[in-house]
Amino acid sequence: MRVHLDPGRCQGHGRCYDLAPDLFGEDDEGFGTVLGDGIVPPDQAQDARRAAANCPEHAIDLREG
Ligand code: F3S
Repeated sequence: MRVHLDPGRCQGHGRCYDLAPDLFGEDDEGFGTVLGDGIVPPDQAQDARRAAANCPEHAIDLREG
């Protein structure tokens, strides 16, 4: 699984990097960023799902593979 964040949707709510700090970071203005290549280790899959479900702007996609 891989996380993808759409910068065009992100409004900087920050739930992604609060809920899944190993997968998401923030830029200088508080907008979310994907850390590294976005590949989700199996033990972080639940964090990834929680981040995606809690983004109010639906900016986060989970993609298989
Ligand atoms: Fe942006 Fe959503 Fe995270 S609005 S900062 S991607 S919770």
